[in-house]
Amino acid sequence: MSFSAVDLIGLKRDRKTLPDDGIRWLIDAYTRDEVADYQMSAMAMAIVLNGLDRRELATWTEAMLTSGDVLDFSDIPIPKIDKHSTGGVGDKISIPLAPLVAACGIAVPMMSGRGLGHTGGTLDKLESIEGFTTRINKERFRSILEAHNLVLAGQSETMVPADRKLYGLRDASGTVPSIPLISSSIMSKKLSEGLDGLLLDVKTGSGAFMQTLEDARELANTMVGIGEASGVDTVALITSMDQPLGNEVGNANEIAESIAVLNGSGPADVTELTLEFGTVMLELGGIPDAKPQLEEAIANGSALEKLKDVARAHGGDPSMIDDPSLLPVAPHVESITAPASGYVTKCDALAVGLSTTRLGAGRERQEDEINHGVGVTIHAKLGDEVRAGDPLATVRFSDPVRWESQRDHLASAWEIGDQRPSLSPLIIERIDSPGD
Ligand code: URA
Repeated sequence: MSFSAVDLIGLKRDRKTLPDDGIRWLIDAYTRDEVADYQMSAMAMAIVLNGLDRRELATWTEAMLTSGDVLDFSDIPIPKIDKHSTGGVGDKISIPLAPLVAACGIAVPMMSGRGLGHTGGTLDKLESIEGFTTRINKERFRSILEAHNLVLAGQSETMVPADRKLYGLRDASGTVPSIPLISSSIMSKKLSEGLDGLLLDVKTGSGAFMQTLEDARELANTMVGIGEASGVDTVALITSMDQPLGNEVGNANEIAESIAVLNGSGPADVTELTLEFGTVMLELGGIPDAKPQLEEAIANGSALEKLKDVARAHGGDPSMIDDPSLLPVAPHVESITAPASGYVTKCDALAVGLSTTRLGAGRERQEDEINHGVGVTIHAKLGDEVRAGDPLATVRFSDPVRWESQRDHLASAWEIGDQRPSLSPLIIERIDSPGD
């Protein structure tokens, strides 16, 4: 059946419900370049303004999902569970988590993204390991998964092509911030991975895309609803992103911190989230109360061994995991110091993320190259006591001009006060079903 793009846009503009066949036609025609970018951006803006109801959203997500290849791992006889984060600063949790869970007998077909705005991306971080390739076809994806219970890749060209096109368009047309568009974009990609279960880490706070708890809750509920309707057991955890996670923000330095977690010497917050998320992923895979099993996989080295095996399978140099000092590091080093004595009352994730990106650890334009050795090491986080002149952060960079332009902005991330602030919990809420 054929529709008119202009008529469908008009329906959404006038707050009417889109017919299911119309949604399927629109997404298919857009994927085949038969609906123009300007028409799809008008539709995206109408959705930003007027939303999608539950049925429209289910149909929209299904149409995106089936715009390309959908993987099927039903012949792999263990549960297939993935985790997705909505993005944060210093959020390297997937890197220790995926091998840890795989070492405990769960298959993790993880498809990750690149850095977006002020947030880093798992693929960019993994590529700090010499030779590590995340661009693999679906045959290699399957063979690495079968051999190691784990694969860490980017989305192939043939999966969810509708989202690949639409996401670029939304980025350039001011239509990213929309709960139905974000949730269908994320869930269409996750549901194409052939999963039995999915853990969603929905971040909230200054460094998150969802700045308020209310928005984070709505996004989490919406995505859990889509997952459950598709038969994939889905749990969302709403977690705090007011300050960066861990002490390292960048790429290679975040790999080093992830290795430290798997060596049992990682920072408390990253270790805690890794173990909590691992416990939920194992629960989704039918293994309840598995925290001791996860701790044992760290203590006996099997999780770290899994990361090395999988790095090797992706063409990466495992000696960098044995010896993280071999990871790339930028040549210049400077510090940010405390302007006064007192307690750290602010360590703003957004400011740290933006400055780290602009120093070269992220992309300001799509075509920019990542500098994997650029990064910020944080020495003082919320609630820590400091004395005037103490280092708050050490910064590694390659371009002194960029450093001059970022120094004050990065320093503005910290505020020092007389009172120790109360700290919010890392995990704020768990959502198991869309009605919660
Ligand atoms: N991440 C995605 O994959 N899609 C969005 O729309 C936003 C964040």
